[in-house]
Amino acid sequence: MMNSKTDRMCAKSFVALLFFSCLADVAVANGETGISPPLALEPGKAPPLPGQGPLAAPRSAGQTGFPTALTAAVTPPAAPRSPAAVALGQKLFFDGRLSGDGTVACATCHDAARAFTDGRSVSIGIHGRVGQRNSPTVLNALYNKTQFWDGRAATLEQQAAMPITNPFEMGSTSLANAVSGIAGDRDYQVQFMMAFGRGVNEQDLLRAIAAYERTLASFDSPFDHFIAGDGDAISGAAKRGWELFNTKARCNLCHARSADKRDVTTFTDNDFHNIGIGILRHRVGPLAEQAEHELAQGHPPALDTAAITSEMSVLGRFLVTKRPADTAAFKTPDLRNVLVTGPYFHDGSMQTLWDVMDHYNKGDGLTDPWLDDGIQPLAMTEPEIDDLVAFLASLTSAPYKKVGDEEFARQFAVSRTDRPQRDNARAFGPKPKRLPF
Ligand code: HEC
Ligand code: HEC
Repeated sequence: MMNSKTDRMCAKSFVALLFFSCLADVAVANGETGISPPLALEPGKAPPLPGQGPLAAPRSAGQTGFPTALTAAVTPPAAPRSPAAVALGQKLFFDGRLSGDGTVACATCHDAARAFTDGRSVSIGIHGRVGQRNSPTVLNALYNKTQFWDGRAATLEQQAAMPITNPFEMGSTSLANAVSGIAGDRDYQVQFMMAFGRGVNEQDLLRAIAAYERTLASFDSPFDHFIAGDGDAISGAAKRGWELFNTKARCNLCHARSADKRDVTTFTDNDFHNIGIGILRHRVGPLAEQAEHELAQGHPPALDTAAITSEMSVLGRFLVTKRPADTAAFKTPDLRNVLVTGPYFHDGSMQTLWDVMDHYNKGDGLTDPWLDDGIQPLAMTEPEIDDLVAFLASLTSAPYKKVGDEEFARQFAVSRTDRPQRDNARAFGPKPKRLPF
């Protein structure tokens, strides 16, 4: 029964969740990739803002593997693409003045030198606030049908507005405030005029950032050269891994644009699945019950805040669709450059690609009633796992070859001794019975 007292209590319990949960993951946030440790943190402060560097430059459409037709198909006809708009977007992407206290830019969490990620398990924003999710790469985000792990933004323009005002990310009180932080800047006035023929304003700011992001297509990997006909571009291990990917390992069920044709472009079905990440650690069951209850009471959580700042984040796509079947389902990510974008998964809970493979191999989800049907024990041997990782590593674009080689060596060394996800009994055992929903 609804009455105003329970209404108030529910609203309160949701707010309480918002505040407790952000403390819980601080330890996780310090997990790092080996590319070079993320810049040191000062307590209560955002991480230092990375510089632009050569890797921030727009990418060429002449890269081997560049999908010309697909790129045209995913680019909205009205999207600006002039060099002036792109240059403006690039400058905005690295400008801390769009944040509440001048210290955080998009690049804080999307560092060009680390393939536009931050190398942390979960991101850290304004005042050192620790969010709930891993920062995905912005490379090839132009091909995503939806943005964010839960797809809550439909376009790059819509997406760009959200971190600017999220209290754990850039923390501006409003988009208008972010704009007023740069509106007096003579250079910006000129650049907005050149790009859009009018003064500094909110809509063009978002359009410029998106225009820059649409130039960040990342192909030209050894795999692309292999597909283009250079049989020596990838190792025998990577070739075997590509076969396994499309057969025994069943990766193509989700990491391909279509079920019946091998996909060599973006390695995602643009869909959402629960693959059993962090189901126990995150108390998904009780949270799902609570969210459904609060929904029934007429208290839908504020989406972007819930996703980044509250424990409700683990409910994933459910927060967007409110469909129980979408509980803890997340977007299938593109696998390009995955070697250099760890730690892995929406919560950054896995440190190496071998951990990722061990997770899939055991068909996780013994306690997960929402587990996708595509996830089941794979009975992959150690050499097969090494082959799959070699294939994933072959998706690293040329500008990241050096950091990729170093990261491969690091992960390989870790994987020889440390395999927290390995469970051979389950990997080679029968398919477990599904829990009743
Ligand atoms: C404090 C860290 C932080 C800042 C600052 C930040 N982001 Fe992100 N970004 C993230 C995280 C974490 C996610 C994933 C969040 C989610 O899925 O709920 C994300 C997701 C994205 C995505 C979606 C990618 C995909 O594959 O779905 C894009 C695009 C993006 N950010 C661009 C930007 C832009 C543009 C800015 C600046 C206006 C920005 N980000 C500022 C951390 C940050
Ligand atoms: C049932 C669909 C499905 C199948 C099958 C599947 N994946 Fe995934 N994959 C996903 C989803 C969804 C995510 C994100 C899940 C999350 O973060 O909660 C993901 C994440 C990943 C990631 C982490 C990427 C990142 O940026 O953090 C890697 C690597 C990966 N998958 C590789 C593989 C490989 C290799 C296989 C085959 C052994 C495979 N996947 C099979 C759906 C699937």
